[in-house]
Formats: sequence, C-alpha cells, structure tokens
Amino acid sequence: MCSIIGYLGLSQAAPIIVKGLKRMEYRGYDSVGVATFSNNQILVRKGVGKVIEVNKTVRLDELSGTVGIGHTRWATHGMVTDTNAHPHPSSSGEIAIVHNGIIENHEELKRELQQKGYTFKSQTDSEVIANLLQHHYDKTRDVKQSMIHTVADLKGDYAFVAVFEDGTLSAARLHEPLIIGIGKQGYFISSDVLGFVEHTDEVIYLDNREFVIINTVGIQIFDFDANPVQHQITKVSKEFADVYKGEYAHFTLKEISEQPTTIVNAGNNTKLELDLATDFIRHAKTLYITGSGTSYNAALVAKFLFSKYAKIKIEPIISSEAHFSPDIFEQQSILIALSQSGESADVLEAVNIAKKSGAKIISIVNIMTSSLAHLSSISIGLGCGPEIGVAATKSFTAQLAILYKIVDKICQGALGLDLAKVSEAVKKSLSDDSKIQEVAKKLKDVSDIYVLGRGIHYPIASESSLKLKELTYIHAEGLPGGELKHGPLALMDSNTYVIMLNPNDSTYSDTLTSAREIKARGAKVIGISDKPSDVYDHWIEIPQMSESMYPLVEIIPIQLLAYYAAVEKDTDPDYPRNLAKSVTVK
Ligand code: G6P
Repeated sequence: MCSIIGYLGLSQAAPIIVKGLKRMEYRGYDSVGVATFSNNQILVRKGVGKVIEVNKTVRLDELSGTVGIGHTRWATHGMVTDTNAHPHPSSSGEIAIVHNGIIENHEELKRELQQKGYTFKSQTDSEVIANLLQHHYDKTRDVKQSMIHTVADLKGDYAFVAVFEDGTLSAARLHEPLIIGIGKQGYFISSDVLGFVEHTDEVIYLDNREFVIINTVGIQIFDFDANPVQHQITKVSKEFADVYKGEYAHFTLKEISEQPTTIVNAGNNTKLELDLATDFIRHAKTLYITGSGTSYNAALVAKFLFSKYAKIKIEPIISSEAHFSPDIFEQQSILIALSQSGESADVLEAVNIAKKSGAKIISIVNIMTSSLAHLSSISIGLGCGPEIGVAATKSFTAQLAILYKIVDKICQGALGLDLAKVSEAVKKSLSDDSKIQEVAKKLKDVSDIYVLGRGIHYPIASESSLKLKELTYIHAEGLPGGELKHGPLALMDSNTYVIMLNPNDSTYSDTLTSAREIKARGAKVIGISDKPSDVYDHWIEIPQMSESMYPLVEIIPIQLLAYYAAVEKDTDPDYPRNLAKSVTVK
C-alpha cells in the first residue's frame, strides 16, 4: 500500500526520489519521507501530508548525497504523525529503512530488541526492521549477513529498502512488489516501475524471498537462503512513460476521457490469451469470478452477461470473503480474477485459496508483471495504460469490455457486441458535460445519494455509488430498483437525491415506477436515460444502445458527475482521503 524507493548512482538522490514518490503517491499518501547517505551519515526528513506539501515545508529534495531511500505511507500501524512516517532509522542511526507491508511478529521482535537495549520512537511495525537489521549488523558488520538473519526473523508480507552507514542499499521482498531499475546513471529499487520510469526502461523483477545488495561495485541478488540468483533484464513497456496529465486538471478526468479508446483496445495486447481463456471457460466444470471494489462490480456484470447470453453459471465472490468460505472452490473449477493492479492482497488470497483447491486461474489485469499475473495460468491484459487516479474508471470499462468479448465469443455473437458503437456513444457522452457539471453543483451539500438500477444496471448502480463515495465523500448506496419499497423508501425525503439508471430497455417501466414513488416522497430524481420523463428533476441524456451494451455507456456520466462534484467540494479527485489505489494489505 505504501510506496518505497531507493536510488544509488551518480546524481543527487533526493530530487530523483521525491519525483518518483510523487508518481507513486497513488499507493498511499498520508505522509512522506526521504533518507540519504551523505558525508558518512544518514540524514532523514519526513512529515505528514502529500509529497508536494511536505517537500515545500521540509525540502526533502534538498538532502545531499547520491544514495537514498524514500516512502509514501498509507497508515496501518500507528496514527498519521511525523514520527510514524518513514524512513525509520535504527536506534544508533547507522541504518534507515522504508517498508511496505505488515510485519506480523513485530510486537514480539520489538520486545526482544528492547531487552537487548534497542530503542523505538514510532508506533509502527516497520521500525522493528531497522533495529533488527542493526542488531544483526552489530554482530557481523556485514550487510549480506544482516539481511539473511533479518529476513529469517521477520514474519508477514513485506518489501523494504535499507540504507547502511557505509552507503550500501539493500532491499528484500516477500509478497509485496519490488522492482530494480538499471539506469546509465544509477540503480533504482522501487514498488512500481512508475517510480523511475523516466530514467530507465531496463528492469529486473525480484521474486518473492529474494534480496538485493546495491553498492558502487554493482548489484548482487540472493534468495533468502543466501544462494546467488541470476535474473534477466526486461524492458518495460513504453506506455508507462505516459504518466503525465497533460492538459487535464486531474488524472481522473484524463482517464475518464480516454475511455473511447481504452474500451476498444481492451485485451488487444493479449489476443491469444483471450481466445485460450474463452476456450477454458467454455469447458469449465464450475466457474467463479472474484475481485475487490470496482473489480467486484465488474464481476457482478459478468454474472449477468454469462448467464443471460452464454448460458453459463458463474459465481461472483468478493475477494476478501473467500477466506471465510474456504471449501467454496470445487475441483477442476476456473476462477477468473479481476484486478487493475494485480496486487490487491484480498484478490491474491482468494486466488491462493482457489489454487489450493485445484482451480485454474484466469486473470484480467492491467499490470502484466504483477503478482496476480504470475499466479495465473492465463492473463489477459486490460491494456488501458497506467491508471493513476485512485478511483478506478478506465480500468473498469476495460474489464467490462474484455468480459463482453469473452461472452460474445461463447455465444457466437448473440450478445451483439459492437465496441466501435460503444466507443462512439462514450465519446458523445464525454463531448458535452455541461449538464453534468450543473447537476454536480447541486450535489455539493447533499448528505445522501441513492443509485437505482434493475437487472444488468444494478451492478452499475453499485459501481456508481462506489465512485460517488470515493470521490465526493457523500454517503451513497447502490440498490436494485425493486428493493426500494422493502426498506430504503423510509429514507426518502426532500434532502435526498436518487439517481435512476433508466435506459429505454426491458427495465425501463419498472424503474420509472420506482422514480415516481421516490418523487412522491419529495426526494430529487436524476434520470440517466436515453428517454426524457417529467419525473426527473434532472435528466442526463445517454445515447440509445442495445440493452446489453448500456452498462459501458451509462457509467460514464456517473464517473463525470462524481468527478465534478468532487471538484465542487474542493476534495482531491485523484487522491481521495484514507484510500489507496493498490491495497496490498488485508
Ligand atoms: C482499492 C481501490 C479501489 C479498487 C480496489 C481494487 O480499494 O481504492 O478503487 O477498486 O482497490 O483494486 P484492483 O487493483 O484489485 O482492481
């Protein structure tokens, strides 16, 4: 969840690290810090806030030295305070670390280290790594030996980078991402390629249970049993260099606006895998689909598409719930795992449970080098480019587009898939958003929004409420239209807004009836439809489509509505409070 980065090279480390952290802020952004090695000592600066803010006050980027480490935090252990921000120095200050993940046995290790005289300042689990390394370093004065003993003592999932008093960098990985960048001017070690992509596209993906030692002589990689490991250098896709927001005010708006293209391109980078996966799915004995957050909402759309058009039953499982129903996966089943990042801990756990039961994993994922892609038999790439905005937008519609393609192949065209037409419709919805901006102003002071949809529109109602929550901090709830009268109607009054997903299809008249019931209770009704009605206080028009295609189109005005309402409320749409894009802890 946090992002970590290290640099050792010919240039001043701090500005490079600060820039890298800015790029990786999507992983967590409650506090930030940098440590460098300079004049035989380790210097640390850190503070609460986002990279730009903290840098303004404590000038992280002015730290001297050509070796350094950096971190942006998403708090798990300990409040958001300057002291709990990383890097954490060891009690003697000879070593400093940055950490991503959770150290499960930190309390026990801390007690043991305190008994040996090491002192702690923070409430974090991470600080234990600094003192544990220091303890082993005190005994051996050897970086490699200290790393071997430290990783043997640690329990949990982690990636950390340490800088030592002799200017060596060392980093270890267990179930959290860590990538080495090999540049002409130096080495990088980071949670994400985005941390250093403007400097080099040559990378080494460390495997789990491996650590690296980087010094002026070069790099050496070992497994946790101290055996040397050789790795191929891989070139990362140039698309990752496209991480600027250009003319757009926010990444979120840029990513929403890219959808006419990303929907059409989804899966095109892995056409063979898509065909193969379709074949497996067609012959699967039992089929499951899992994801978290937005990806789970895509799974709900899949359930509808598979049963209605492919005549195949598929069971959606919320990834974080898989652990509590361990016998769920039958032998010879297939689990489709949806994840933009491919690093969500909940998704990886569901996948591991399924694998233990003998299931095959097909992943639909944006980051093809992610842990999820590694765990899968087949991976289909979203191919939508980096998504920086924390709230998923273009990755959602790319997930849908791939699921549509699979279903369309299975039902031999009965779905009527026409992504070119969808793309045109999305373009049209994006081209005039003045009405949406007007409605967004009305939502500014609203405390509750309900989103109603029936049939295939219910998962989109659910995704709509998630977008509104994430971006506007307004309480929002997605409901199947028919459930209104079974309870939620009691909540309707003149302070409530209800968004009706009401395209002119088989759900239309029932949803319109619900709209009238709501209106009769004084609530305001926003209709998302290709057909106007007097019942709507605000009508947001969408283009006419065939019934199965509406989900890809009707989500667009909601994404824009949530975005513009966030702007109205002066919240940061790219980095909503308390959230992180890639949730790598349980
Ligand atoms: C986090 C993000 C959500 C996202 C979810 C799943 O909670 O804040 O926006 O939908 O993770 O992410 P994934 O990368 O697995 O699709």
